[in-house]
Amino acid sequence: MCGIMGYIGTQSAQEILLNGLEHLSYRGYDSAGVAVQKENRLQIVKTRGRIDLLRQKCQDTPLDGTLGIGHTRWATHGPANDLNAHPHTDARGRIAIVHNGVIENHAQLRQMLTARGFVFRSDTDTECAAHLLRLLYDGDMLRTLLLAARYLTGSYAIAALCADDPSALYCIRSGSPLILGTREGESYLSSDIPALLPYTRELTVPEDGEAAVLRRSGIYLFSAKGQRRRAQTFHVSWDMQSAEKGVYPHFMLKEIHEQPQALHSPPIIRKLPARAPSQAVLLGCGTAYHACLLGAYYMERLAGIPAFPEIASEYRSRIAFPYRDCACIAVSQSGETADTISAARMAKARGAVLVTLTNTLGSTLERMSPAALLTPAGPELSVASTKAYTAQALALLQLALRWGRMRGTLQEALSEQQLLHLPHWAQEMLSSSSAIQAYIEPRADQPLFFFIGRGADAVTAREAALKFKEITYTPAESYPAGELKHGAIALIHEGMPVIAICTQPEWLHKTLVNLSECRARGAECVCFCLPHMEKDAREAADHVFVLPDMPPLLAPIISVIPLQLLAYYAACKKGLDVDKPRNLAKSVTVE
Ligand code: G6P
Repeated sequence: MCGIMGYIGTQSAQEILLNGLEHLSYRGYDSAGVAVQKENRLQIVKTRGRIDLLRQKCQDTPLDGTLGIGHTRWATHGPANDLNAHPHTDARGRIAIVHNGVIENHAQLRQMLTARGFVFRSDTDTECAAHLLRLLYDGDMLRTLLLAARYLTGSYAIAALCADDPSALYCIRSGSPLILGTREGESYLSSDIPALLPYTRELTVPEDGEAAVLRRSGIYLFSAKGQRRRAQTFHVSWDMQSAEKGVYPHFMLKEIHEQPQALHSPPIIRKLPARAPSQAVLLGCGTAYHACLLGAYYMERLAGIPAFPEIASEYRSRIAFPYRDCACIAVSQSGETADTISAARMAKARGAVLVTLTNTLGSTLERMSPAALLTPAGPELSVASTKAYTAQALALLQLALRWGRMRGTLQEALSEQQLLHLPHWAQEMLSSSSAIQAYIEPRADQPLFFFIGRGADAVTAREAALKFKEITYTPAESYPAGELKHGAIALIHEGMPVIAICTQPEWLHKTLVNLSECRARGAECVCFCLPHMEKDAREAADHVFVLPDMPPLLAPIISVIPLQLLAYYAACKKGLDVDKPRNLAKSVTVE
């Protein structure tokens, strides 16, 4: 949800900002802009549309200077046009800011500032912060920023330049991500880590409410009261290739192919409580919520722990019963999803022990949790989540096994050997991608798809339908197979694809009966099943895809892979922008 980038050093700021924004563009791509300081002047270029348009505009008017800020926008207030593009400035163009987040009291601020004669040029919430800084400016930008923060409510990471001050870049955060990096003679800021990887791996994260001054000599952190705090750096080991597409046409395809690697090693564990809980709440949004559904299945099935998966944004409206001996597992690839952060805070306040499962070291969720599990998936840049999901599913399975062993309630044994085989099954799955492509391409324009399954397969069906909707813009429904006949079967029409996932032997026959019911009404039926189910599946389905021969308990981690590919090839066939689907952003930092 918007990405910000900032640089001060010795190289061309424009180039570094444009490169950084390209990495951040998965966070929003409605408009983009940069401001670069040259002597005591701020030069600004911005445009509606994507970074390549901004790059073109910058080629026409190159910005000379070694200090600057940049922004890529996911529109919240006002349409995607040049006027609403960041950076925003005060009336005289002496202060420029970029912002990620939402200033919730922008309407009141706008009223107050208008009454004082400030003239607004955009519809954004951000512009009020630019005018507010001008109103409060007393010659000291740090002091002004800290003072302005007292008037702002909502979430923000703001980076600011002041034309009077050519030797520093300022920033402040509250509830939105902000990563700072340094190397000899240069300092950087960004909304996330991959944008900084080409330059530095020595990173710092300001605490919520803190401000920072970035100079060529280094980074200086200040509390809300203006007290200096020594910046603690951490080192990230992600390499640069992991943030590049390499030989793949899209990040999504690359990330689908990275799943064997993501399933190769267990999550890194930070300070898990010594005791297993007697119940668990799992919170997440989107794909991460689907990992919660699977996690809850594993908690109950393997560890005998009652587990309650919740959509993070909905959890907040639930009645607040206090928890006893309960773990709250907050699942988030980015660790920055606002709904998940708020829900996790609420669960913590209700007495749950917070355990974050994330892919992002240093993220807000990771930092606010006493315990964390870090998935080893590497940066995920395609908006549609793939490898993060399978890595989360495996991490939750491993957590369930661990807690089941600790409580002596382990219900079903899985050998280490079987877990170690997951990357091979993932690889085997990937090798069948041409069959998936051949199936879906002629059907890519079908108006509606159904995905069905029971138990753990119903979770896979949900994730398959979400992937399909996200990147193909085609309506895709997912249903627990048994529920279809209670309403949604009315939608079935001649030739409509109904795709069943069958990996759980106990439900095979029931799901196949449901598939036959669809076929009897004209649907074209497809079944993904384990090898020993193939014969039965062929009776009910027009097309059968055989999954690797794996234990049913592990199958949900692998069976999602061909369905990710299905969505991918359908979107490609329709000529859509797979990595940056319309209206979406990868990291949703607003509630
Ligand atoms: C957005 C993305 C989804 C993602 C969800 C949760 O909606 O478009 O792909 O699953 O956020 O993101 P998180 O970073 O919390 O896993």
